[in-house]
Amino acid sequence: MKNNSLKLNPFLALEIFAKATELEAQGKKIYHLEVGEPGGEPTKKIAKALNSYLKHPQKYTSAKGLIELREALSIHYQKKYGVEVNKENFIVTMGSSAGFNIALLSAFEKNATIAVTSPGYPAYINIINSLGFKATEIPLTEQNYWQLSAKDVAQAYKKQPFDGLLFASPANPTGACISENELEKIILVCKKLNILLISDEIYHGLEYGTPSKSALNFTNDAIVVNSFSKYFCMTGYRIGWLIMPKNLVKKAEMLQQNMYISAPTLSQKAAIIALDDLEHCDLQKAQYLRNRDILIMGLNEMGLRAIKPAQGAFYIYVDFSAFTNDTLVFCKEMLFDIGVALTPGEDFDRANGKKYVRISFAGKQSDIEIAIKKMVEYLTRP
Ligand SMILES: Cc1ncc(COP(=O)(O)O)c(C=O)c1O
Repeated sequence: MKNNSLKLNPFLALEIFAKATELEAQGKKIYHLEVGEPGGEPTKKIAKALNSYLKHPQKYTSAKGLIELREALSIHYQKKYGVEVNKENFIVTMGSSAGFNIALLSAFEKNATIAVTSPGYPAYINIINSLGFKATEIPLTEQNYWQLSAKDVAQAYKKQPFDGLLFASPANPTGACISENELEKIILVCKKLNILLISDEIYHGLEYGTPSKSALNFTNDAIVVNSFSKYFCMTGYRIGWLIMPKNLVKKAEMLQQNMYISAPTLSQKAAIIALDDLEHCDLQKAQYLRNRDILIMGLNEMGLRAIKPAQGAFYIYVDFSAFTNDTLVFCKEMLFDIGVALTPGEDFDRANGKKYVRISFAGKQSDIEIAIKKMVEYLTRP
């Protein structure tokens, strides 16, 4: 049998995670600062309610998802962003990961080019390529706090036109947040150049300054991708949602019917409960903020002083060139020598990521404290 020519880059964060898990199985204590997975649990109300749901047979739901969940989401948008979203425009998906497949396949012709930021979430490029589209990268800079601007979009388009733009704010791996004003400008540029915006809003709710606006505050033409994984601490429930513009919603529904039938029913029930307890999510967020500040103090002790605190999400993207010129080698050393798992920047930026490391502060405070102490001892030893 012939192999196809699809080239995928390894997802290094998950490869480090797999190695770390292997070491744990051998009895070694590992501190997980590599994965973007909340250390806290979702609201306890979910477990209580699911016990009783489990007494019923678990059936498929309609492809778009339970009406009660889409109604609850619609109310959430009204309360959180002050925007009206019709429940018919939501598609409940298996995490935002499945949402990307549906969004891209429903919106773009074969061979379309989608722009993503560099650094950016590594799965974007792999998904775009796997689905037969082309990816182009818009470079971001540390001097600009890793923020995407309307000017960056227009300049990149001039160099190489593209049909779609996909980015997250707050961002992975940098925690960068785009201001309301700049988001509006980006949307105007997209309109002018006929670029379809896919706004990945998975880290909304996790801002340490001004809360984000949704793309839907400025346009009805964008696709919004979101998930219960991060703010709601529900990674393993594999549940998220899409908001599709009117002209694409039927196509997206048909793709969902054929590719996934429906999102898991129990997880949809859990999501309804989660939407009703944002207080719980905000308590988790307060812990991330404490973790972030502990992490920055530790980095200062390592001699890394010019660290800009992440504005959102739960990552910090740090220049480690004082210690290494290849952070993949460095991250392996940290894992094997002191049991601290980190993600090399190459995962997020193939061209310039080798001097950066992404550190996740989503985990437990005690783990972060110990991991940082170990790193300080290791990196400042005589
Ligand atoms: C920016 C971004 N988008 C999407 C995802 C995928 O999340 P999920 O499929 O769990 O919703 C992640 C996961 O880390 C992410 O960082």
